[in-house]
Amino acid sequence: MAALASGLLRLTIDALVNAVQDRISAVGKRLPPSPPIRHRWLGHLHDIRTEGFVRFHARCVAEYGPLVLLRFGPPVLGRRLLLVADPAVARQTLMRDLQRGFIPGTGPMLVFGEDAVFCTGANDPVHASRQRLIARQITPEMLKLHACTMTAVWGPAIEQLVSVPAGRDSIERFNFGPAVLFTTQDVAVRCWMGVMPSPTEILDTLRRYFDTGSLLSEILFDTWYFVHAKRRVAALRSSYAPLVARGLDAVMAGDTPQARFIAESLDELGWDRRRLAEDKSYRAQLLASLPFYQHLFTVMLPSMGSTGGTILFLIRQLASDPVAQDRLRGELDGVDLISEPRAPRLTAMAIRECLRLYPQAAGITRTLRTARNYGEYFVPKGAYTFTMLHELHRNACSHADPHRFDASREISSTNGSWAGFSMGPLACTGRSFAELQIAVALKALLSRYRLSGAVVDPAAHNDYQGSVTLQPDPFTVTFSRRLTG
Ligand code: HEM
Repeated sequence: MAALASGLLRLTIDALVNAVQDRISAVGKRLPPSPPIRHRWLGHLHDIRTEGFVRFHARCVAEYGPLVLLRFGPPVLGRRLLLVADPAVARQTLMRDLQRGFIPGTGPMLVFGEDAVFCTGANDPVHASRQRLIARQITPEMLKLHACTMTAVWGPAIEQLVSVPAGRDSIERFNFGPAVLFTTQDVAVRCWMGVMPSPTEILDTLRRYFDTGSLLSEILFDTWYFVHAKRRVAALRSSYAPLVARGLDAVMAGDTPQARFIAESLDELGWDRRRLAEDKSYRAQLLASLPFYQHLFTVMLPSMGSTGGTILFLIRQLASDPVAQDRLRGELDGVDLISEPRAPRLTAMAIRECLRLYPQAAGITRTLRTARNYGEYFVPKGAYTFTMLHELHRNACSHADPHRFDASREISSTNGSWAGFSMGPLACTGRSFAELQIAVALKALLSRYRLSGAVVDPAAHNDYQGSVTLQPDPFTVTFSRRLTG
């Protein structure tokens, strides 16, 4: 209660200071002007849900320009979120943060605290050690183990997904996206929790994924998000509880190295492993503990959603681009991803290009700890900023013919023109795990089948609706069996 009161007090003081800064800025003598403001009492979520995020954003740009402050809730006290769609300003922002070693918080932890689904935020003192814990599961030795699991899952999954009937050489399949996401989630559970999920468990946890997707957009774009958050997190927890319980058994038995993530997480979060083995009520407490699930979801959700989405976009793209497909097939046929557990060069380039056109994260969120200028505008401390990857990645000044997919495009991930996995100290911890899984999935697919499909409509995607990640709309591919030696 005291924490809530002090949080509210801090928010109120911050809001008042911001209002004064706005006022000064409006006078326009000492500070540049504020960006144009789009204000909604009940947040902007309704518009985003109806229009889709990229389309909503394009409308904001048309009406307000490429920098717009979204205001939420009551004037003065409401939050504000700066959408940065000007690619030059976005690029400058990413680079400026790097150069100054400036790591603003990742979104409204202070505000949603207990209800957060992801444990992330540079303001959080335990953040760095949690990130190290996750990174320890992605060492070269662990990646070899993960590559074995991924290969064992993806081979049979591809056969089942495509399943060309006996006596035929090819088959046309429509909307196999759910099967791909199912397989990605299967891999995620085995790698991070050290247990084999049943098909029902995979489906149940998959369904909940979309809850968290919606939850994240509520947190970002709704005013009264905490009402929804409690309900959703409880549902999510209940669908993962049986898997966590089995993961605990694997930890106690010490029988799989992939149970190490759960084991180390328990230590990190202060749970006594020996007592968990003996004391049922203590174990029940863990199974109901929100912080434990928050930590788990930090790896589980991107291991399925962003990774699965990228695999799907690549399948769609390669089906319509036989030249790129052959190049990747040739490369992947020649590598052993278990002894060399990383995406080889051309595959890594194709992944980067895919994330350029179809960024899985719509943007990079930060909280401003100090007031800053964005382009010609002044943005006060305390604002959240959302650097739009869609606009950054389609900037014609950085990427020639920016709307065209080119699997062999050379993209720099250090000059601020591409941030598919973000940049700097808060960049994605799971990048090598994700790239490996994408490479394993493509190898399993391309070594068995040739793909063909219609020309791609780049706008045929879910526009971050129903989830915070991007997924292609259902599409058709013809799979032709490859004649192997
Ligand atoms: C194609 C797949 C993926 C993409 C495109 C992606 C992208 C991103 C992006 C854009 C961020 C935001 C960083 C920031 O705020 O600056 C992020 C953070 C993060 N990602 Fe990923 N990610 C992917 C897969 C994964 C996987 C498989 C894991 C599993 C370990 C993972 C774990 C994380 C974690 C722990 C963070 C938080 C980092 C921090 O706050 O320090 N990601 N990711």
